[in-house]
Amino acid sequence: MSKKLLKKERNPSILILDFGSQYSELIARRIREADVYSLVVSNFTSIKDIQDINPKGIILSGGPNSVYEDNAPKCDSKIFDLGIPVLGICYGMQLMVKELGGEVTPAIKKAEYGRAPINIDCESDLLSNVLDKSIMWMSHGDSIKKLPEGFVQISHTENTLHAAISNKEKRLFGVQFHPEVIHSVFGMTVIKNFVYSISNCKADWTTETFLEETIPRIKQQVGDKKVLLALSGGVDSSTLAFLLNRAIGKQLTCMFIDQGFMRKGEPEFLMEFFDKKFHIKVEYINARERFINKLNGITDPEEKRKIIGREFIRVFEEESNRLGPFQYLAQGTLYPDVIESAGTNLDPKTGERIAVKIKSHHNVGGLPKDLQFKLVEPLRKLFKDEVRKVGGVLGLPDEIIKRHPFPGPGLAIRILGEVSNEKLNCLRDADWIVRDEIKKSGLYNDIWQAFAVLLPVKTVGVMGDKRTYAWPIVLRCVSSEDGMTADWSRIPYETLERISNRIVNEVEQVNRVVFDITSKPPGTIEWE
Ligand code: XMP
Repeated sequence: MSKKLLKKERNPSILILDFGSQYSELIARRIREADVYSLVVSNFTSIKDIQDINPKGIILSGGPNSVYEDNAPKCDSKIFDLGIPVLGICYGMQLMVKELGGEVTPAIKKAEYGRAPINIDCESDLLSNVLDKSIMWMSHGDSIKKLPEGFVQISHTENTLHAAISNKEKRLFGVQFHPEVIHSVFGMTVIKNFVYSISNCKADWTTETFLEETIPRIKQQVGDKKVLLALSGGVDSSTLAFLLNRAIGKQLTCMFIDQGFMRKGEPEFLMEFFDKKFHIKVEYINARERFINKLNGITDPEEKRKIIGREFIRVFEEESNRLGPFQYLAQGTLYPDVIESAGTNLDPKTGERIAVKIKSHHNVGGLPKDLQFKLVEPLRKLFKDEVRKVGGVLGLPDEIIKRHPFPGPGLAIRILGEVSNEKLNCLRDADWIVRDEIKKSGLYNDIWQAFAVLLPVKTVGVMGDKRTYAWPIVLRCVSSEDGMTADWSRIPYETLERISNRIVNEVEQVNRVVFDITSKPPGTIEWE
């Protein structure tokens, strides 16, 4: 069989070589905020591959190592002779200095962490329009002792002589500070100087250009074959449904598996919205009984998740056989998932990715061997905020685009201990009040997640003249950038009061509301 060559994907204008920095992804995001397409690649990427990609500029990221450590990560030093502008950030700058014949040593005075005002020493392309004494974010132990030939110092701080360096002729630059971090006041100016004036990139990475390039690619990949999409109602799968509907219309079938752990009104909303309003074919699978029966007597959180995951795969398998056959499975994989997961499975014939797992937390056992789909993953190069923009342009309402994350196992992991229909109904009502009040108070879009948790213990209360014995509800509200770390949200007392009053008055089996004031770490966002 001949290899089906997919239309070539766009090459990144800026390539970021990753030396293990926690900020590599952030650098890529900042550059994309300037409407320039950038990708993160391994520091091992060969010169040949870099030449094939032919980026307009290269950034060497920071990293946790010292350049003199035995196993310090390196890149091919021919990178500095390609004639492509290079910006080294922190470790990236130190590596460049060392490779080009300069010297790096442990900081002369002391390591520098946090905010530091930088002094501009002379005019340069890199620091053009950056205000003297403006604050930049530092995080380093090593410093440059001797610059390589051809370089000049263009900025210093109190503790760091070489806060920024330049070799104008060769278009090689370095900064000791982190321009990508939000606390670096003129950080974005530095990034824009590098991508626009130094690397000559055009601002051509926009939602519109993404759609113009992606829709024909999807059509070409899928041809006349059928595609299945497991719709959850979250931003990613919803945007994907709209995108695929635009690209391949009736060849798309969405499957919505209702495991019974959704929020109040959610299944109805989804069917109404996708199927009725936008005429996107959605197969509604009512699997409530199956799931709740499987959880009978189960109290261990991990076991619950495993059972739900396994059952999801089973239902998915049965239903896709019934509705199919489908040749393709569409997944809302995003760029951070791709950066993190190196070992992907490629179809040896076509080079397309093959699904061995259903994305995210449903992926307990993986898909059975005889149920292997080829993947359609058109959001694979996008960050979450870019997906939201694509969704918006395709016509998704804020109600979906701005919704809080919701875990795959749903309310089942927000009822501690054994799950029952009675508890589910109770939690659904409490959760609805939480969201309603958070929205009314105007806080919804500033909060990462706001939800209710039901504790399987009963506490004493008094209502009217009667003593009550009922469940407490925990209110969990957190702010976060990515769900990896989080802080509890400082909700105004008035909002807390309204939520508490309404839950205790309107939800029958509840007589007490408590507020979780734990950050992550040490707590997790969910309770199970
Ligand atoms: P934790 O509780 O680990 O949650 O702090 C971090 C983020 O992940 C979400 N989460 C899940 N999402 N399936 C999902 O799809 C899951 O099993 C799951 N567990 C946690 C959680 O809501 C938060 O946004």
